[in-house]
Amino acid sequence: LENGLARTPQMGWNTWNSFACDMNETVVLQAAEKIVSLGFKDLGYHYVVMDDCWSAGRNSSGYLIPDPDKFPNGVADLADKIHDMGLKLGIYSSAGTLTCARYAGSLGYEEKDAALWASWGIDYLKYDNCYNQGEEGTPKLSYDRYNTMGKALNATGRPILYSLCNWGVDGPWNFAPTIGNSWRMSGDLINVWDRENVNCPCSETEGLDCKTPGYQCSVMNVLNKAVYYASKPYAGAWNDLDMLEVGNGGLTDTEAVAHFSLWAALKSPLLMTNVMTTIDAPTLSILQNTAVLAVSQDPESSSAVRIWRYYVDGGQIQMYSGSLSGGDQLVLLLNGGSTARKMNATLTDIFWGDGAEGTASEIQSSWDVYDLWADRMSNATANAIIEGGNATRPINMTALGGYEKVYAQ
Ligand code: DGJ
Repeated sequence: LENGLARTPQMGWNTWNSFACDMNETVVLQAAEKIVSLGFKDLGYHYVVMDDCWSAGRNSSGYLIPDPDKFPNGVADLADKIHDMGLKLGIYSSAGTLTCARYAGSLGYEEKDAALWASWGIDYLKYDNCYNQGEEGTPKLSYDRYNTMGKALNATGRPILYSLCNWGVDGPWNFAPTIGNSWRMSGDLINVWDRENVNCPCSETEGLDCKTPGYQCSVMNVLNKAVYYASKPYAGAWNDLDMLEVGNGGLTDTEAVAHFSLWAALKSPLLMTNVMTTIDAPTLSILQNTAVLAVSQDPESSSAVRIWRYYVDGGQIQMYSGSLSGGDQLVLLLNGGSTARKMNATLTDIFWGDGAEGTASEIQSSWDVYDLWADRMSNATANAIIEGGNATRPINMTALGGYEKVYAQ
């Protein structure tokens, strides 16, 4: 959406995965304080988003009321406090009669709600797809519901990042980029690395049912549904692979490293959902890897593209490639299998699809290779190691005859 926002994928924190309906002003403020004091703010994690369950219905004039028990000082006061900390405040609603947790939805109240949020100083809207009167799977009707809110937000004159949580829609990438800054393309990501045989919407190519709400997807499920080409720089419009599960306990450190790397490489929004007040050292070092964040926030790069995937014992191995600014190239090798293995990406793999394939002589033959994780994890066994080099001592790719990495498991 050309509203000047989300020129790079938005970064921040959201209440839902850790607090669900037990969210309140204290939860939001405590997280915000940690985002500042632990250095997340300085790295670009600017949005603090209150998800579902914040309201207590509407008043007689039709305006939403913040739950007085959860937000005794109101949301405008909270927004002031968040702004004073140098952060931005997000709020949540649904393009339906109710939210997913059965609180008041915004269908039919778009202008009132947008105006109210703007008057409170809200900077971000996550707009869900529950209680949509059976319209979630129909692109035209979804477009209308989401576009109505988009226009209402624009009419406020306040810059409000518009995050479409439009799971269940067939091909959201076909219409969402013109009306929103990001859009969901799967069911909810849960705290699980891989789950076989889970019906995780939405995939046109795999023909899965995209219309049933409540699907829960593992990291690998979401990954296999992602539509990579849709996220491009300059447009302020990103494919949303759903919020991060780093630090929520269900992933090993190695899996969390892979999850975070993938979300950065695929230019998904990076919304943390861990409990900030009890964050541990590995979680901190993963979420604060500046080299990986630089990939996510590279102003000139599009989403990386999956070049290949193979099924191996206990999972898949995959390889991704994407161009970065300054003539650099991103290479991501994913070992989703159950044993350690060596993986190799050739220059032909890496530059497949960018017009250079088949013309090896046109590809720069000598590259310095930097490992974006080397020396950044305290736990050496969780560290993906490139043989013979690390991030500060680049190795020359031709010297290895390819890019080869040993993956711990
Ligand atoms: C479904 C969304 O996908 C979740 O991220 C969360 O916002 C819940 N709804 C809230 O009810």
